[in-house]
Amino acid sequence: MIAVVIGGGTMGAGVAHLLLAGGHEVVLVEAGADRAAAARRAVEASLAKASERGRLDGAPHELSRRLTVVERLDTQVGRGAALVVEAVPEDLELKRRVLGEAASACPDAVLASNTSSLSISALAEGLPGERVLGMHFFNPVPVQQLVELVHHAGVAADVVARVRGWAEELGKTVIEVRDAPGFATSRLGVAVGMEAIRMLEEGVASAEDIDTGMRLGYGWPMGPLRLTDLVGLDVRLAIASHLAAELGPRFEPPTLLREKVAAGHLGRKTGQGFFTW
Ligand SMILES: NC(=O)c1ccc[n+]([C@@H]2O[C@H](COP(=O)([O-])OP(=O)(O)OC[C@H]3O[C@@H](n4cnc5c(N)ncnc54)[C@H](O)[C@@H]3O)[C@@H](O)[C@H]2O)c1
Repeated sequence: MIAVVIGGGTMGAGVAHLLLAGGHEVVLVEAGADRAAAARRAVEASLAKASERGRLDGAPHELSRRLTVVERLDTQVGRGAALVVEAVPEDLELKRRVLGEAASACPDAVLASNTSSLSISALAEGLPGERVLGMHFFNPVPVQQLVELVHHAGVAADVVARVRGWAEELGKTVIEVRDAPGFATSRLGVAVGMEAIRMLEEGVASAEDIDTGMRLGYGWPMGPLRLTDLVGLDVRLAIASHLAAELGPRFEPPTLLREKVAAGHLGRKTGQGFFTW
């Protein structure tokens, strides 16, 4: 199939890699010549790394022959596309605009958004809603096994089935979730993360011991505080605030989290979060 990926940052480059490895033609849309060139380099580097690790069938340069990078999506490029995956920054208006352009440029394509928190019903407003759904990948896309499919009331059942089929062919495991704040993954992940921070605040146990408890007692690959450090404390604060507004005070971010963000301790990216990196 021909797939269009809009946005060639962390997630878009990963989705492009995944689709190329799965044998598809990929049109990657990035805003501006410099960013388009950087996006191509990111996809090629990602394919090369997977190949070095023995995780890619076929030579990277052969796969990247099926990659076209463009700065604008129009009917000439988009006609014939079966799937559009939007991976531009988490901004409702921006996403609606690019999905609207994709709806006209790709008249036969499913319009999937990789949003991690925005309402799919709100995104679908004013668009051909029967073709719109959430297709939530995880970072790094070629490695993480999960795809969370998010449907709103107006999506066509055959569209959901088609996207599930593609994701499974690409080796992913699919969960289906109704459009609700935080979907399934962010909602539960943030709930545990916030509780772990509250426990630290109350002196129940050290950060190290809270994490070790979940790793060794519950088989988590990493504890909730270390995971918060990896995601970024600012990112988690924004999601928790959004969930508190939508779902109620049980998601209210703890004071300790606000203080750390205010102090610039954002986790791994700044060298300091709940742990020192
Ligand atoms: N990073 C993660 O771990 C993660 C995980 C799951 C979902 N997401 C979601 O995926 C989406 C993208 O996140 P990301 O981390 O890849 O962001 P990013 O900032 O790395 O990439 C976004 C890219 O979109 C490009 N862009 C901006 N406007 C554009 C336009 N009009 N047309 C084409 N390209 C445009 C930017 O130049 C940038 O390269 C967000 O909705 C985010 O919430 C992120």
